[in-house]
Amino acid sequence: MKRTQKLHLAVFGCGFWAQYQTAAWQELSDQIEIIALCDRDLSRARSLAGKLGIGHYYDSPEKLLQDHSPHIVDIITDVDSHPSLAKLAADHGAHVICQKPMAASLEKAVEMTRYLKGKKVKFYVHENFRWQAPIRLLKTYLQEGLIGRPFKANIKFCSSFPVFENQPFLAELDQFILTDVGTHILDVTRFLFGEAESLFCQTQRINPKIQGEDVANVFMRMQNAVDCYAEMSYATIWEHERFPETYIMIEGSKGSLYLGPKFTISITTDEGTRTEVVPIEPFSWAHVEYALIHSSIYACNANILSELTGNGVAETTGEDNLKTLQLVYDAYESAKRKKVIHY
Ligand SMILES: NC(=O)c1ccc[n+]([C@@H]2O[C@H](COP(=O)([O-])OP(=O)(O)OC[C@H]3O[C@@H](n4cnc5c(N)ncnc54)[C@H](O)[C@@H]3O)[C@@H](O)[C@H]2O)c1
Repeated sequence: MKRTQKLHLAVFGCGFWAQYQTAAWQELSDQIEIIALCDRDLSRARSLAGKLGIGHYYDSPEKLLQDHSPHIVDIITDVDSHPSLAKLAADHGAHVICQKPMAASLEKAVEMTRYLKGKKVKFYVHENFRWQAPIRLLKTYLQEGLIGRPFKANIKFCSSFPVFENQPFLAELDQFILTDVGTHILDVTRFLFGEAESLFCQTQRINPKIQGEDVANVFMRMQNAVDCYAEMSYATIWEHERFPETYIMIEGSKGSLYLGPKFTISITTDEGTRTEVVPIEPFSWAHVEYALIHSSIYACNANILSELTGNGVAETTGEDNLKTLQLVYDAYESAKRKKVIHY
């Protein structure tokens, strides 16, 4: 049934990413209202509440839930706290949206998804990369058959962007690039080509100052017979450094599609090459270095909201995201054991 009244949203976690996630929600203020914020560091909750003009802020998630009974909780905290906060929100009858990675292991993610299902609340992972405008257009072109049957793809997210400056906690993760970026890139792979038939991964740590791996190369044969090579690196110094852009080359029986720097798509067939620059929605609140990704936050929020208001179907459900997480943790397993995983 379609809703006419605004949904009430509460946000847990008021750190780096919450600034943008909340600003993107405010773009949808005709349908949803942020009613309260929570951070275990009250000064962060107070500061973000002040910026957004929200009257209620807390350092206790439980107290917030008791006081406001929100329809939805958006969890933007560190990964270790995702399962317990999601369960707490569900215990109070709230639908849950959670940042990636859903949980710090596949087992915890499966258990969390099962728990939320048992509570009969809706559960989404805020997987925004597939909502980037150039990536959506590539998918449209594939579906329209512009390059015939795709047989090979390279998805490349490589840079030397100093990601640890904005997110210092990432330097301390034992499992870094596959959980942080692999969740996005392997989800884009599934979005474009469907599920994997087999997977092999190699990882490396180049930056000696961090704990986990900062390079991962994942090779997959997809069920639709596309050979897909997904490359991720935060140690790559090169000419086309344009974080956070993903470059994607797809080869098909009748031509190729290439998403290159500056949101440019080239379509090459027997008739030659046509290029176009995909427009990115310019939000005033977007960080200049993350504008592409920030516009995808809005699109992802709008998709989730469409389901919650009875106007559409959300793509990035918890159940769907388990398939992406399976690839992430299988990639670690493959790298550790130096073996191909078959599905
Ligand atoms: N989709 C994307 O492109 C993207 C980009 C950046 C971050 N993220 C995700 O967003 C999440 C947060 O990342 P961040 O960079 O904002 O981290 P951050 O450390 O800047 O912020 C996290 C906040 O959560 C608070 N917090 C932690 N546990 C809590 C608890 N139990 N109760 C209340 N508050 C708690 C912390 O005090 C902190 O203020 C992570 O899951 C991260 O992967 C996603």
